[in-house]
Amino acid sequence: MAWSGAGFGGLASGRSELLAAFKERSDWEVELGFGKGRFLLASAAAAPERPFLGVEMVSKYFRLAARRAGARALDNLVLLRGEALYLISTLLPAAMARTVHIYFPDPWPKSRHHRRRLLDPRTVDLVLALLEPTSGRLCFATDHVEYGEAVVETLEAHPAVDVDLLPGAWPEGPRTNYEAKFEAEGRLIVRLMAGLRPDAASLLHPVGRESILVAPAADQPASTSFTSS
Ligand SMILES: C[S@@+](CC[C@H](N)C(=O)[O-])C[C@H]1O[C@@H](n2cnc3c(N)ncnc32)[C@H](O)[C@@H]1O
Repeated sequence: MAWSGAGFGGLASGRSELLAAFKERSDWEVELGFGKGRFLLASAAAAPERPFLGVEMVSKYFRLAARRAGARALDNLVLLRGEALYLISTLLPAAMARTVHIYFPDPWPKSRHHRRRLLDPRTVDLVLALLEPTSGRLCFATDHVEYGEAVVETLEAHPAVDVDLLPGAWPEGPRTNYEAKFEAEGRLIVRLMAGLRPDAASLLHPVGRESILVAPAADQPASTSFTSS
């Protein structure tokens, strides 16, 4: 993992300092797979009082965005190079984000690869765990209609999530490089926003939940599916 960013008055480069900064606030704007960083850099520059975190696994893009962030002296932006689901599992605290942004993620079209998708029944709870439970929002867009439909289905099947499909573009226009390119090409784009239901934020997606087994308690059968409440 590499990271970049002076971040709120000069963090040292250690894991514990990063963790402390992430835990300090629950209103982070987090983008997973930021590519060349158009949305993240513009958003961080427009709202210097708010904290932004970008995660990108390709070094070339990470370095490009880090250079641009440095040139603009963005003190409210932290960039991490690494795989998003790994970083969520190992470093990023639950409930840190006001918004998680995922734009034009890799669709992994082969069904044996679906579990690598950032939003799949088996991964969605990792991403949702980042959201602050009362006001956290997920913003998502893709030009891959099959993946878009699968994400809508995944979120609509989730007992803790309310989904709003956007009928058209974001009010401010294309957010990312891919969005600008695909919109100019006239491609169909699926855009949605989703939030957690306050009374159900701890519930898990049924597919993920049913894969968890609990070792037997004295008065229970040998193994039983985990049910969250
Ligand atoms: C198709 S590009 C879209 C880039 C940008 N979001 C946009 O809309 O212009 C997908 C980006 O997500 C990154 N990415 C894909 N899967 C990722 C993952 N699991 N963790 C971190 N980055 C990921 C890729 O390296 C790539 O830069």
